[in-house]
This record gives sequence, C-alpha cells and structure tokens, in this order.
Amino acid sequence: MTLLSPFPMRSITLRNRIVVSPMCQYSAIDGTPTDWHYDHLTKFALGGAALVFLEATGVEPRGRITHGDLGLWNAAQEAALRPLVARLRSRGAVPGIQLAHAGRKASSQRPWEGSKSINPDNALAGEAPWQTIAASAVPLAPGWHTPKAMDDDDIRTVIQAFATAAERAHRAGFDVIELHAAHGYLIHTFLSPLSNRRTDGYGGSLPNRMRFALEVTEAVRRVWPADKPLFVRLSAVDWEADGWSLDDSVALAREMKARGVDVIDCSAGGILGPATTAKIPMAPGYQVPFAARIRAEAGIATQAVGLIRTARQAADIIDKGEADLVALARELLFNPFWPLQAARELGDQDYATWPEQYGWYLKRRVGG
Ligand SMILES: Cc1cc2nc3c(=O)[nH]c(=O)nc-3n(C[C@H](O)[C@H](O)[C@H](O)COP(=O)(O)O)c2cc1C
Repeated sequence: MTLLSPFPMRSITLRNRIVVSPMCQYSAIDGTPTDWHYDHLTKFALGGAALVFLEATGVEPRGRITHGDLGLWNAAQEAALRPLVARLRSRGAVPGIQLAHAGRKASSQRPWEGSKSINPDNALAGEAPWQTIAASAVPLAPGWHTPKAMDDDDIRTVIQAFATAAERAHRAGFDVIELHAAHGYLIHTFLSPLSNRRTDGYGGSLPNRMRFALEVTEAVRRVWPADKPLFVRLSAVDWEADGWSLDDSVALAREMKARGVDVIDCSAGGILGPATTAKIPMAPGYQVPFAARIRAEAGIATQAVGLIRTARQAADIIDKGEADLVALARELLFNPFWPLQAARELGDQDYATWPEQYGWYLKRRVGG
C-alpha cells in the first residue's frame, strides 16, 4: 500500500490514494453549477487526484448553508451536474459528491459577505432568510437563527431527501457519494450531546443519537447502486468538554460499516461554530490519529484529512496504515498539480497518471 497505488472499492478503482476534499464555493445559481465550478474542479482532475469531491450539496432548499450552495433536489440541478461529472471523468478523475444538509448553520451569508445568519438588515435582494431545522431548537451561537426542532414528519422528509438526491447523483453519473455528518451540520446536531436535547427515540443515549445518521445511511444505501462506494464524513471529536468523542465515532463507524459504508472520512469539530472555546492542536496531520484509530478499531477504510501538506507526510500516513486515503483541500488550492508533483518527489517516473498530452513528452525525456 503506497500513496500512488490504486485503491479498489466495489466496482471503482481509484488511480492513487489522493482525494480532493469537498470545498464549498458558494457560487451556484439556484443550486446549479456555474463556469466557476468547471474551472475550480477540472484542474484537480488534470492534476492527478484520484477522486474529486464536489462541495457540500444541499439535499433540500432548507439544507443549503447559503443561497450560493449547490443543490440536488430537482431535475434542473441533476441535468446541470451531468456535463460537469462527464468533464471530470474525461480528465481522468472519479467524480464524487458530498450530500449535505446544513441544519442550524443554514440560511447564512456567504463567507465573503460575513458568514452571519441572514436577517432583514443584511439580506441581499432576492436572498431572504429561511426557517432552519435541527435536532433541537438550540441556536449555533448567540445571534444565529433558532432552528425548529425536527418533528417526525421533518425527519422522514429529510431522510427521503437524502435518498432522492442519491438517486439523482447516480443518474447524473457520480461514482461516489459522501454523506456530510460533520462540522456542526444537521446530522452532527443529532450525534452530539451538545446540540441534541431530544427526549424521543432520537435523543439521549448514544444509540438514540446515532439513529438519524444511521437511518439516512440506510436510506441512501438502499437506492445507491451496490457497485458504487459510499463515504461518510464525521467530526471524529467535537473538541469540546462533554461533546462527541472518538469512542463514539468508533461505535458509529462499526454501525455504518454494517450498513454498507465503505470509507469513514475523519474530520473534526464545528458543533458550536463561532461559540467554540476549543483549543485545537493545529499542526500537520493533527486529525490523522482519528483516522488511524477508527480504521484499527472499527475495521473500516478511512480517509485522513487536515493539514496534509507534503508528499512525504501523505505517503507516511498510507505506509503506516493510518488511513487508506488522504484528502487535501487548502494545499490543492495552492497547487492543483500537487498529486503529480508528489509522484515525482516520491520517485515515480512512469507518469502514468499524467494527461497523455503532457505525459508523452515527460516519458520521452526520462527515456521511456
Ligand atoms: C474553501 C474551502 C471550502 C470547504 N468546504 C467544505 C465542504 O463543502 N464540506 C466539507 O466537509 N468540508 C469543507 N471544507 C473543509 C475541507 O474539506 C477540509 O476538511 C479542511 O480544509 C482541512 O483540510 P486542509 O487542511 O487540507 O485544508 C472546506 C475547506 C475549504 C478550504
């Protein structure tokens, strides 16, 4: 197992272990991609990453973070994604999509507009706020929308929305779905005791808090073809006192594996948003131990993410068996060709993953 070795999952084989982590662009119109998405994503496929995830994509209008989020709740969005998926595939990458519901972090401004809850004073023309939903009626932080605590109808509706979006993702041509259960968004609000105050079957004990996440997973797995892989992104820990713990993540990962999840993508944090007092030990690879422990104890493939910067660092994560895949975000913004550069640094000279328009020349120069 090396960074550059292929990774088979169900009927899909990744050309290496390097994944483009989902990155919101807040640049969609009515949930559909724009030219920006083509420019932003195509360069990662050309750059040699094996799997390119599209950003958090809302499964219903209430599930968008901002008015600029991608969505996958209607036929127009499905149709608009199809050529983008085809573009990524034609450039050598496996296309993936992160399906998401923003929960109590929804109805906010784009980051460059302030990242605050939308209200009548700051709303742009045509961009009204909307009623958010969450496990409990507890705002993210002072000044944020108070979400409606989801009743049984809301729960059924959102589970169905995830499943319908998964069917649309299949028809649009995606090969991989990642369910976003991290970063304080809707599913995470059920998991964490800091945001879940429910007294019904979806709150209280760990099995109850895991119920919504597992029901979403089951509903998606039921409609997502058996030959296509399913990932789940978790916040492996809340980084808060009395919050969701790594032990909880191991328990959840076991349950998800039993329900046909292939990879746990191990991120962390986000449950209290700007109200956090967490001291996060930000250092290269700071979340990798989560991927290692979940992989070892739940017996499921993991994806490590978070300040993975150098080729050697990424290769070591795979060599040591800490994770099966590495996902990068910021480093790929600096250098979309990071995977091809990593291959060169690690001594790979067959240029196998280079676009042939570039690779033929490089191969000749090394005598191939
Ligand atoms: C511009 C940008 C947008 C992001 N959007 C998302 C997203 O849509 N979904 C998600 O789960 N994480 C998102 N993240 C977090 C990244 O996927 C990743 O987990 C995080 O940046 C840590 O990886 P890095 O140190 O390689 O950047 C975003 C990060 C960046 C930089």
